[in-house]
Amino acid sequence: MSVLDVGCGTGAITVCIARAVGGEGLVVGLDRDAGMIDLAREQHSGETNLRFEVGDALDLVSKESFDVVAAARTLQWVSNPGLAVSGMANLTKSGGRVVVLDYNHGQNRWEPEAPAEFLAFYSAFLKWRADNGWDNEMGDHLPAMFEEAGLLEVESQEADQVAECGSAGFAEKVELWPRVIENIGIKLIEAEYIDEDLLHSARIRFEDFAAHTLKTQVLAMKSVVGRKA
Ligand SMILES: C[S@@+](CC[C@H](N)C(=O)[O-])C[C@H]1O[C@@H](n2cnc3c(N)ncnc32)[C@H](O)[C@@H]1O
Repeated sequence: MSVLDVGCGTGAITVCIARAVGGEGLVVGLDRDAGMIDLAREQHSGETNLRFEVGDALDLVSKESFDVVAAARTLQWVSNPGLAVSGMANLTKSGGRVVVLDYNHGQNRWEPEAPAEFLAFYSAFLKWRADNGWDNEMGDHLPAMFEEAGLLEVESQEADQVAECGSAGFAEKVELWPRVIENIGIKLIEAEYIDEDLLHSARIRFEDFAAHTLKTQVLAMKSVVGRKA
């Protein structure tokens, strides 16, 4: 089986796909960020059925076609996701599948409610995303894009990532937000969506909340699959 993973990042998921398909298969990870591809190549050089390439989801061209073309958490960062889905469908063999996993950022939730400073940061994050043309309900909008691309038997499933306090992986899952604040916060300050004081207090208050109060975090996601005619 051959698989193309669009927006593979450092290849953490791609390498699992390569191991699942086995030595007879071929897996290609693609990302527009050359630095990510360098890291992916470095970290997964031992896999003989796996290669990584630099490329853009909005300009998918290949001499090869694949049994499965997948994208996990990539289209949330693409301003024309319908074009990407159509490109993914074009690279899929007849009878093969397009599979996309993505967020509905507008539906993420914390129980009990997250601190006001973090929610103010989060609301600025959603506005900044929307102003940049990135869909905050990407998961829910995928099925229509699959239909538009001519894919058949389109099915959508809830794939929420739920972190329950006390369960395995809780700390890693809630660590996402301090990382987002650190990596993306500077862009929100530069674009004047927030100031440094809010960024700082959002981080401190969220870390304290995650360590002492947070019971459940739900990151709303959908996984959508469609068949190429
Ligand atoms: C959140 S990471 C997801 C990585 C991996 N798929 C996962 O789920 O762990 C999103 C990735 O999409 C890549 N990306 C964003 N826009 C892209 C585009 N237009 N074409 C290709 N890759 C893109 C980013 O460089 C980043 O590595």
